Amino acid sequence: MAYEVRGVVARGKGEPVSIETILVPDPGPGEAVVDVQACGVCHTDLHYREGGISDDFPFLLGHEAAGIVEAVGDDVTGVAPGDFVVLNWRAVCHQCRACLRGEPWYCFNTHNATQKMTLKDGTELSPALGIGAFVEKTLVHSGQCTKVNPEAPATAAGLLGCGVMAGVGAAINTGGVKRGESVAVFGCGGVGDAAIAGAKLAGATTIIAVDIDDRKLEWARKFGATHTVNSRNTDAVEAVKGHTGGFGVDVAIDAVGHPAVFEQAFYARDLAGRVVLVGVPTPDMKIELPLIEVFGRGGATKSSWYGDCLPSRDFPMLIDLYLQGRFDLDAFVSETIGIDDVESAFEKMHHGDVLRSVVVFK
Ligand SMILES: NC(=O)c1ccc[n+]([C@@H]2O[C@H](COP(=O)([O-])OP(=O)(O)OC[C@H]3O[C@@H](n4cnc5c(N)ncnc54)[C@H](O)[C@@H]3O)[C@@H](O)[C@H]2O)c1
Ligand SMILES: [Zn+2]
Ligand SMILES: [Zn+2]
Repeated sequence: MAYEVRGVVARGKGEPVSIETILVPDPGPGEAVVDVQACGVCHTDLHYREGGISDDFPFLLGHEAAGIVEAVGDDVTGVAPGDFVVLNWRAVCHQCRACLRGEPWYCFNTHNATQKMTLKDGTELSPALGIGAFVEKTLVHSGQCTKVNPEAPATAAGLLGCGVMAGVGAAINTGGVKRGESVAVFGCGGVGDAAIAGAKLAGATTIIAVDIDDRKLEWARKFGATHTVNSRNTDAVEAVKGHTGGFGVDVAIDAVGHPAVFEQAFYARDLAGRVVLVGVPTPDMKIELPLIEVFGRGGATKSSWYGDCLPSRDFPMLIDLYLQGRFDLDAFVSETIGIDDVESAFEKMHHGDVLRSVVVFK
């Protein structure tokens, strides 16, 4: 018996999303069906709708979610019906080159459900990031379900499923921010502010927020920014150097994913500093850098997929910090909305009115 539920689908490039009836199969081997309680609206969902990720329309959007396991396939032992879980898009395989050399956060062969969710007419859906969670129930691989403390509300916990984890991890895992270091974060949306919060958790003493929107800069201070720079009317590189004794920062994080911003991050770091790209560029974007600068500055330029996180290690840890009052996940939630409001949430995100709109399912 398949489940018949409502979900948010992007049918074509740039078209407004629509609410559709989705057929969710019973979980097969290795799979789980999860009753979604909350799912945040991430900029990557908008990238999907704009055709910036791939052309595999129709997409079932949503991928930043928490919920309760409803049913599992016969052979599943890791989770059971009733478990409170955050969905992840890094269900590691334990067998690929990265996993075998002990670096599972780079897993090259992550698991997704084998069966397809479909529209009523049988059209197969491409779930965003292999999840698809703007839907009352979703089918995932059981490894995509990470158990966390059920005392955390789903609206907060779900955010770890993508943007917040990506930002925190960009700072602490990819950037390796250490106590006493200086950090600049370019782009202070949900991901950038999470990078700021991550830098604070790691003990950075100078945290410079850079954005083109004053409201975002104001919010960034709440997450731990010690200085702010509006790069619409100031030279960001000079301003960052001005706040770091003329040297630049130890870690510069691009949380926009735009060549001009990446270039600012590249030049705003100190010698031997690290540049981290966590914002997602579109396939047409290019950068040109003098190779001598790449060489001469030393350090590293890295990209950060999902904050190089290991969900089983990092989600429960961040939920514990949240429950201890040391990591304010609630501050990312600008509003809770219904499943019908995703299109208007994209609009608000586009205008910079929100950090995260979170769809809540009754
Ligand atoms: N690498 C990953 O695993 C991962 C995971 C989630 C999201 N992302 C990506 O991270 C990026 C940010 O996501 P988000 O949800 O925070 O988006 P968002 O739209 O909430 O935030 C983007 C921020 O960047 C600012 N900005 C735009 N242009 C700028 C510029 N030229 N200079 C400085 N600031 C600028 C905006 O004002 C806004 O505050 C997106 O590209 C998203 O796809 C990556
Ligand atoms: Zn692997
Ligand atoms: Zn996302």
